Amino acid sequence: MCGIAGYVGKRNAVLVVTEALKKLSYRGYDSAGIATASGVIRTVKCAGKIECLEERLKENPLPAVNMGIGHTRWATHGAVTDENSHPHGTADVTIVHNGIIENYLLLKQKLISFGYTFKSETDSEVGALLIDYFYKKTHDPLTALREATSKFHGSYAIAAIFKDCPDTIFTVRRESPILIGVGTDEIFIASDIPAFLSYTKRYFRLGEGEIAKITPDGFKVYDRRGDEVKKNLQHAPFDAESAEKGGFAHFMRKEISEESGIVSRLISMYSDGHGLPFFDLSADIIKNTSHITVIGCGTAYHAGLYLKYLLEKLAKIRTECHVASEFRYTEPLFDKNELVIVISQSGETADTLSCLREVKALGVKTLGIVNVVGSAIATEADEVIYTHAGVEIAVASTKAYTAQCTVAALLATYFAASRSVMERQQVREIALELKKLPDAIMHATRAEDAIAEVAEEIKDAENLFFIGRRADYIAAIEGSLKLKEISYIHSECYPAGELKHGTISLITEKTPVVALFGDREMLPKMLSNLKEAASRGAKSIAISAPDKDIAEVADIMVDMPRCGELFFPIAMASMLQLLAYHTALKRGCDVDQPRNLAKSVTVE
Ligand code: F6R
Repeated sequence: MCGIAGYVGKRNAVLVVTEALKKLSYRGYDSAGIATASGVIRTVKCAGKIECLEERLKENPLPAVNMGIGHTRWATHGAVTDENSHPHGTADVTIVHNGIIENYLLLKQKLISFGYTFKSETDSEVGALLIDYFYKKTHDPLTALREATSKFHGSYAIAAIFKDCPDTIFTVRRESPILIGVGTDEIFIASDIPAFLSYTKRYFRLGEGEIAKITPDGFKVYDRRGDEVKKNLQHAPFDAESAEKGGFAHFMRKEISEESGIVSRLISMYSDGHGLPFFDLSADIIKNTSHITVIGCGTAYHAGLYLKYLLEKLAKIRTECHVASEFRYTEPLFDKNELVIVISQSGETADTLSCLREVKALGVKTLGIVNVVGSAIATEADEVIYTHAGVEIAVASTKAYTAQCTVAALLATYFAASRSVMERQQVREIALELKKLPDAIMHATRAEDAIAEVAEEIKDAENLFFIGRRADYIAAIEGSLKLKEISYIHSECYPAGELKHGTISLITEKTPVVALFGDREMLPKMLSNLKEAASRGAKSIAISAPDKDIAEVADIMVDMPRCGELFFPIAMASMLQLLAYHTALKRGCDVDQPRNLAKSVTVE
């Protein structure tokens, strides 16, 4: 959520930073801007996507200098306008900021009383002017940054340039991420690895509260007290091509195409020598956990619902699942042997991270299921399981969800096996079922034409329902979110039996209903529910194995992937993602960057 980038080195910083911003634009695309300093600070910024910034740069070119910072914004404070775009600052200091300075109104009042005036409505400009205030007092950038940020409440990742410090960028963070890419005689600053991956794979993460001074030939990092911190460089876990579209029209489509391979990799990574699910977790967690609470946001929350379903069904562990932004403000009652599992693709979602911290402070054991290696949640949870889905660029999460669900299936089976809830033979059978998943997922790709036809049928709908029962319901919730997120069709997902308790009044002949029939045990009940909707005129779409009774009711039938009922949400994910994708395409929507959204929601 908001991407920041910076460069010092021998190249033209304007070009490097613009390219970096394109790679980070999944974090927000309301506005973009760049600032450089070479004797004087120059800024070009505008509302709109990076392409608008490029146009603006053609009209007002910046000189080709070797140092610059840039920002791509997801608006939080202040409308989407040129004035509210980053960078913000004065003739002496200019910054880009990712995060929220919660006490900005108070700080703004103080700055006004010191004679400062403001051009924007943003919290970030307040941050910039406070840094300016301390810089004018101390003439030392590091002290100014330390003093100013010590007054901030909230989160920040800041890159700052000072008129009097040529070829130097200062950067400081709390909660929001900063990565430093280290090349030969050049250094990159970014919110995420893809921004510098075509130049260097060596990088490190700036730690919580750390501040760094970056010059082309090196960096110095200090902790809050001002003591120097040594940093070990890491090697980026993927290459530049994995952050490209690779011949696909959209990142989302490319990422869906990777799902079968990811599932197959995860199954072998998290298996023991006998091909049975295995995780290197502490014996205490495996043996003694008596109750589990799963927490996540959005799609990750849906993967959490699936994990809850499987933990109860297979491992017989009582489990709850909560949306992080709600859970934070409840007063949870934990068991003595509670385990809290947080699920997050980015590992930096503010609500999920806050829950993790609060739960840890209560002394509860925590486990993170995370995609981004070394992210805040991955580092702070007591134990971590990585989902190894690779970099996910499309704003709508696809392969990360499938990977989370696969880990959920493997983990629940592992709990069941290790706690002897299941016979070994049963575990073997489940392991065999899991191994069929990569093929089942490929089925979705083979059914793409049929899915595109369904998309044609629903593309003009204003409202739509998904229905399902048990695991199908969980698959359907995520399918519904994906559809509304990228196609802007209002979609609701209901447990099929619940429709008639009020919501059925919304169904008209203009309301398509998509019903999932993965759970064969539930078929008769599901069929009645589909009939209830169809008899109110709904266009009924069934995703099901061939079945004459369903065919009699459904207007359209799509052949579903073949897999065991338990794992239907995994096998079904690609299919529903493709449905959302084709519907969005037919409606002319921006599939990879849907309106109002951003990936990695680092504000609460
Ligand atoms: C939807 C989507 C979001 C994220 C949610 C949590 O397609 O991507 O709902 O799932 O913002 O993000 P992470 O998993 O990064 O914590």
